[in-house]
Amino acid sequence: MPHINETPLVGSPERTEEQPESFMNDVISGLSKEQKSIPAKYFYDEAGSVLFDRICELDEYYPTRTEMAIMQENIKEIALQIGSEALLVEYGSGSSLKTRILLKHLNNLAGYVPIDISREHLYQSAERLAVDFPHIPIHPVHADYSTPVVLPVDRGNYKRTVFFFPGSTIGNFDPDEALAFLNRISASAGRGGGLLIGVDLQKDPLVLEAAYNDKEGVTAAFNKNVLSRINRELGADFDLDGFEHKALYNDEAGRIEMHLISQHEQNVHIGEHSFTFRHGETIHTENSHKYTLPQFAALAKRADFKVSRLWTDNRCLFSIHYLTVV
Ligand code: AVI
Repeated sequence: MPHINETPLVGSPERTEEQPESFMNDVISGLSKEQKSIPAKYFYDEAGSVLFDRICELDEYYPTRTEMAIMQENIKEIALQIGSEALLVEYGSGSSLKTRILLKHLNNLAGYVPIDISREHLYQSAERLAVDFPHIPIHPVHADYSTPVVLPVDRGNYKRTVFFFPGSTIGNFDPDEALAFLNRISASAGRGGGLLIGVDLQKDPLVLEAAYNDKEGVTAAFNKNVLSRINRELGADFDLDGFEHKALYNDEAGRIEMHLISQHEQNVHIGEHSFTFRHGETIHTENSHKYTLPQFAALAKRADFKVSRLWTDNRCLFSIHYLTVV
C-alpha cells in the first residue's frame, strides 16, 4: 500500500513559506549595499525552476549529467555505504531522478523524508514517489535549509540517518553558511549517520565560465528572471533590456559569480525606494563555489564528518562524497 505520513509544519508558519515582506526586505537591503546584490534563493519561482531544469540539460552545464553518471556507475558501492534500514533524508526536490536511483537500489530502506520549502511541490512529488515505491514509507516535512530538522520517525525504527544533498547546491552557500549547514546535518544525523553529497570541483576556468554563460542564453534568462519576478511581485520597474547577464570565475575565492550588468545609467523604483545604477555597475546574484578534494575534506572535518568514500568521473569534473559523522 503506498503511504505518505503527513507531518506538521516544522518551525513557525511565517518562516516556512517565502513571505512577500521578507522578499521585499531582502531585495531592498541587497540593492542598498555598495556591491548591489539579490539573494540567489529568489531565482526559483515557477519560471525560474523551469529555466533551471533547462540549464541542467545544456551541453555546457556538465554538473547534472556528470553527477548522474557517477551515481549510476557506483550505485552498488553507494548502497553498500548507506547500508540497510537507513532513514534517508533529503533537502530539496524529492522528484529528481537522482533520488529515484537511490530509492530503487537501497536495500530495506526504513523510510524517506523529503524536506522542501514549497508545500505544493513537496506533497505532489511525495505522492508520486509513494505510488512508484509503495514499499517505502514517505514522510514529507515542510521546512527550509535553515531550520534544524526534527525527524518525523521514531528513532527505534531505523538504524542510521543518512542525508542526501545532490547537485552541488552546497556550492551556493558561502563558506560560513556551508559550515553551519554541515554542522546542522551532522548534529541531526548523529554518530554513525551519513551524508551523501554532490560537490562540484575546481577546474579550467574556461570550462566553468562556459557552463554559466551558455550559448543559447538559458542561464542569462534564468539570471534576468529574478528582475521580472521583482517587477511582478514587488511592483518594481526594472527594464530587462537595460541589464546583461555575465558569469565569471573568481580565482581567489574559487567560485563562479553571476552578475547582472547595467547597460547605461538608470533609475529603478521599488515601492517608495529608488536605486541609481551607473553604466557598468553590477548586481551580484549568485556564487557557485568550486572545491578541491582536500578543501572539501577539511570543511567536512570541521563539521565532525570524515570522508568515508569518494567517487568522481574520469575527468575529475564532479565528485560525490559519502561522509560519516565521527
Ligand atoms: C543549484 N546550483 C547548484 C546551480 C549552480 O550550478 O550553482 C545554480 C545555477 N546557477 C546557474 N546555473 C546553475
